[in-house]
Amino acid sequence: MGKHILVIGSLNMDLSITMERMPAVGETVMGEELTYNLGGKGANQAYAVGRLGGQVKMLGCVGRDQFGAGQRESLAACGVDVSGLRESEALPTGTAVIYVDAAGSNSIVVVAGANQACDQWCDYVLMQMEIPMSAIAYAAGRARALGKTVILNPAPAPDLIPAELLSCVDYLTPNETELMKLSGVTGDGMEAVRQGAKALMEQGLGCVVVTLGEEGALLADGDGFRTYPARKAEAVDTTAAGDCFNGAFVVALAEGMSEDEAIRFANAASSMAVTKKGAQSSIPSREELEQILGGAKARQSAGGGR
Ligand code: RIB
Repeated sequence: MGKHILVIGSLNMDLSITMERMPAVGETVMGEELTYNLGGKGANQAYAVGRLGGQVKMLGCVGRDQFGAGQRESLAACGVDVSGLRESEALPTGTAVIYVDAAGSNSIVVVAGANQACDQWCDYVLMQMEIPMSAIAYAAGRARALGKTVILNPAPAPDLIPAELLSCVDYLTPNETELMKLSGVTGDGMEAVRQGAKALMEQGLGCVVVTLGEEGALLADGDGFRTYPARKAEAVDTTAAGDCFNGAFVVALAEGMSEDEAIRFANAASSMAVTKKGAQSSIPSREELEQILGGAKARQSAGGGR
C-alpha cells in the first residue's frame, strides 16, 4: 500500500462556456455551449490522486447545496476520503466561471464561496509530544495564525519547549511530573506545583492546567491559581487518564463551557478512565459520563463560577 496523501484546497462548481474567442474588455461575444462541471484546484487534484490509485484524504469546505453533495459523491467514488470535508451553512459551494476559446485556452473567474471557510475546518488543535517537535511547532504556528485555540499536552515532556512554540499555545496541560521537568522546579506537594506552574507562566504561557491524578487539577492563569478536586474513584489502571482528561477538556471548551466547567468535566471523565484497564478501552462514552454528572444536568453539575 502507498503512502498517504493529504490534499487541502478548493472545491468549485465550474460553469464552463466555450466560445470562438475571448471577449476583449467592453466587448460582448456569443458563447457556444454552457456546461456545469465539478472543479476547484483542490478537488481536481484530490480526484486525480484518487483516480491514479493514491491513498488520499481531502480537507476543504463546500456549501450545503447540491454542488457540495455532488463533490462529495464524486470524490468518494474515486476513492478519496471525504471525511474531512466541511460543510458551510452560510456559504454556497465555490463557483468558477470559465471561458474556453476555440484553441482550448481558458480564463477563469472564481467566487470562493465556502472555500473561504476552509481555514475554519477546526477551532481547536490538541497535540501531544510523541510526534516530532518540528511538526508540533509548525502546526501550532499555523493554528495560532488562523486564530485557533491550541492545547498542548506536553507528554512525554521534552527537556525544553522552544519559546516560539510556547507563544502559540493557549493551554499547556502537563501532569505533575511533566510540570516539574519543564519548569525545573523540584519538590512535591501543592506548593511545588504552584511554583512550577508559575515558572511556566513566566515563560510566556497564558494558562497552565496541571493534572494531578487523585488530587484533581490545578489551573494557573493571569488571575492566579484555582484547584479542582477529583471525583473519588477505585483506580485499576491510570493508563490514558491524562489523555481522557485532555480529550474531555477540549470537548467541553468546544461546547462553550467555561474553563472551570471544562476542568470539572474532564476531571469526571478521567476519574472514570482510571476504573478500567487499558487506554482507549478505558475512556467513557458521553452517555456514561453524563450519568456520572447527573444526566441532563451535566453542564450545571460540572459548572460553578470562577
Ligand atoms: O485549475 C482548474 C480549476 O481552477 C477549475 O476547476 C476552477 O474551479 C478553478 O479553481
